[in-house]
Amino acid sequence: MKILITGAGGQLGLALQSRLPADAEVVAATSADLDIGNADAVQSCVDALQPQFLINAAAYTAVDKAESDPDNAFRINGDAVGHLARAARSVGARLVHVSTDFVFDGTAGIPYAPGALTAPLGIYGESKLRGEIAAGEDALIVRTAWVYGSRGNNFVRTMLRLMAEREELRVVADQIGTPTWASSLADGIWKLATAGATGVYHYTDSGVASWYDFAVAIQEEALAVGILDRAIPVFPIPTSAYPTPARRPHYSVLDKEATIAVLGAPAAHWRTNLRLMLREVREQG
Ligand SMILES: NC(=O)c1ccc[n+]([C@@H]2O[C@H](COP(=O)([O-])OP(=O)(O)OC[C@H]3O[C@@H](n4cnc5c(N)ncnc54)[C@H](OP(=O)(O)O)[C@@H]3O)[C@@H](O)[C@H]2O)c1
Repeated sequence: MKILITGAGGQLGLALQSRLPADAEVVAATSADLDIGNADAVQSCVDALQPQFLINAAAYTAVDKAESDPDNAFRINGDAVGHLARAARSVGARLVHVSTDFVFDGTAGIPYAPGALTAPLGIYGESKLRGEIAAGEDALIVRTAWVYGSRGNNFVRTMLRLMAEREELRVVADQIGTPTWASSLADGIWKLATAGATGVYHYTDSGVASWYDFAVAIQEEALAVGILDRAIPVFPIPTSAYPTPARRPHYSVLDKEATIAVLGAPAAHWRTNLRLMLREVREQG
C-alpha cells in the first residue's frame, strides 16, 4: 500500500508516521518537500509516486492569524485541497483529508453529527469547510478537534511551559470540546482509511471538557509523571475575559457514532491519552 502524506512535519503528520500500518509504504512530504498550494507540483509528485492513498495533514492552522490573512487560509485550506483531490483522482488514489469542529457554530448543545448544519464562525472554519467541498464526495474526510501531540505547537505544551513559568493561570471555562491526542487520531485515520470509509467521519478521543478542565488535568497528570514539580492555582474565566481575533464555538463536541460503527470501539478517554502523551514528553526529555 503506497501512501503519500502531505504536511508530514506537523503534529498529525508526525503521528501518522509513528503509527504506520504494517503494509504501508509511505512517502512523507513536509511543506519544504511539497507546497500543496502549487497545483503543478502536487500533480507531478502524485504522477511520480502513483500512491493508493493521499493523506493530507497539511493545513493553515493559525486560527487567529487567518482573520487578517484570509487569502492564504483559503489558498491552503480550500484551493490546495482541490489540487490534491484532482491529482488523487487522476491516478485512482483515495484522498484522506482532515477537517475541524470549527465548521460548526457551537450553538447546538448536543454533539454534532457528520450531517449537522455547518456554520463556521471565522475564516479558519470557513476555509476548512471550503476544503471539505473541494475534497469531493469520493474522499474520506475526518473532522477532529483540540489536537495535541508531544511535538509541535499545542495547548498541552503551552500549558506545561506557562505552568513552569507563572505563579497562577486563568483559562477559559465556557468552551466545551474534546481534547484529542494526535497519535490516537492517527490510529483512527489509518483504520478508517484502510476500512475503505468515504464521506465525512468524526474522530476525537472520548469524553468532554472545557479548556479549564483540560488545563487542570494537564497540571495534575504532569505532576504525577514528574514533568512539573509544583502546583500553581488555575482559575476559570469566561471567553469574554480572553478576547481573540477569531470567534470560537462554545460547544463543539463531535458525535462519533458512525466512526465507532466502523472502528468497532470508541477512542480512549481524553484523560487516558493525555497521560500517555505526557509519559512520551517525559521520555523525550
Ligand atoms: N490542531 C488542532 O487542534 C486541530 C483541530 C481540528 C482540526 N485540525 C486539523 O488537523 C489537521 C492537522 O493539524 P495539525 O494540528 O497537525 O497542524 P500543524 O501541526 O499546524 O501542521 C500543519 C502542517 O501543515 C504544513 N503546511 C502549511 N502550509 C502548507 C503548504 N502550503 N504545503 C504543505 N504543507 C503545509 C505546515 O508546515 P510548516 O509548519 O512548515 O508551515 C505543518 O507542518 C489540519 O487539517 C487541521 O486543520 C487540527
